[in-house]
Amino acid sequence: MIQIPRGTQDILPGESYKWQVIEEKLREIAANYNYREIRTPVFEATELFVRGVGGSTDIVNKEMYTFEDKGGRSLTLRPEGTAPVVRSYIENKMQHDVNQPVKVFYKEPMFRYERKQKGRYRQFVQFGIEAIGVEDPLIDVEVLSMLMHIYQSFGLKNLKLYINSIGDHQSRKEYNDALVSHFEPRIDEFCADCQSRIDTNPMRILDCKKDRDHELIKTAPVIYNFLNEESKAYFETVKEKLTDIGIEYEVDYNLVRGLDYYTHTAFELMSDAEGFGAITTLCGGGRYNGLLELLDGPHETGIGFALSIERLLMALEAEGIELEQPDGIKLYICTMDDNSFDKAGTLLHELRTKGISADMDYKRRKLKAQMKDADRKRAEHVIVLGEDEINSGEVELKSMQDGESRTMNIDELKNYLED
Ligand code: HAM
Repeated sequence: MIQIPRGTQDILPGESYKWQVIEEKLREIAANYNYREIRTPVFEATELFVRGVGGSTDIVNKEMYTFEDKGGRSLTLRPEGTAPVVRSYIENKMQHDVNQPVKVFYKEPMFRYERKQKGRYRQFVQFGIEAIGVEDPLIDVEVLSMLMHIYQSFGLKNLKLYINSIGDHQSRKEYNDALVSHFEPRIDEFCADCQSRIDTNPMRILDCKKDRDHELIKTAPVIYNFLNEESKAYFETVKEKLTDIGIEYEVDYNLVRGLDYYTHTAFELMSDAEGFGAITTLCGGGRYNGLLELLDGPHETGIGFALSIERLLMALEAEGIELEQPDGIKLYICTMDDNSFDKAGTLLHELRTKGISADMDYKRRKLKAQMKDADRKRAEHVIVLGEDEINSGEVELKSMQDGESRTMNIDELKNYLED
């Protein structure tokens, strides 16, 4: 038997309503904050991610689904959405768009060849937003408040927002040098990844899951002390404005994020719900002031976040929050014999073309089984079509909610259900 690829999942008909409910809510909130949808291709030039996400990141080094097409081009299945959005912004010269800043959202599958673990998939759906073209603490606050709004709108409570500033490129360079001096003498006590990170991206040592309890992590230099006055002031304003609107957060100086494009504000939302599992990050994001220029674009800056719907669902489950199932069908037609079975088919056609959702039992089961089926399909009403009903043209419409019945002729039934 051919099996589903590792790290992917089927979303079965009985579960897909959860995705629909979440997606609808995300669209509604995006519209609230005036973010419009952007759709980019599932694959992009590999170079986009190597340059944009960064050659020293886990994504680029270990996790990309890269292939050569028949024309010999190296392409990669999108592992994240920011670099593609920025590529599209540059290519479509969106800096000249009348709507400024350019505020977009996407909800698309992403692909990362990661080790299979709870909450970690090889194909997952990210909902993300990007606001490009303004550098002002207030837009950072907008992005963070939208992020919290999303999770709180589902009733989630066990949320912890961590923020940090990783400054501009100059501050980061000085900070990286200080980290190298701090870790280098004892780097052989760290894992193999950290031993290579010291050369490629020393800041990533700080959020290593394996070495998080090492004494040198606790005594490492703190990035805040390396920020220039401008970066510090920006960070202070973001924090103040978050406090002003009642958004709770904690500063985590070791929060560095796993992608290279971040500058200044960086953040992650975690779940501290019991039973959530080892991977507690629900959402991550931050500001990326140099990314557009790095990709040969204009001197514009951006900020955004991305969350996966898979982890949002896990958080809902961990907190015991159920999503409401959408309505079932309006009418279920039970049939008694071959004649009524055929007539039901015609009636269904008429009802459906009038926009009334309706169904019947194609398996020709006994009446009792049909009633059970109607219940399972969450039908609002049921009629039984038999010889008598066909002869008289009258049916008894039974409400599945209160059990009440009313007799009406079939034409009346169509209008009644349409209303
Ligand atoms: P990221 O931290 O790599 O950032 O991913 C963002 C979110 O995607 C994570 O917090 C998590 O919810 C989800 N995620 C990542 N990998 C997986 C996986 N293997 N399985 C399930 N969910 C996953 C980014 O992707 C940035 N582009 C975010 C951003 C937007 N920054 C600025 N704008």
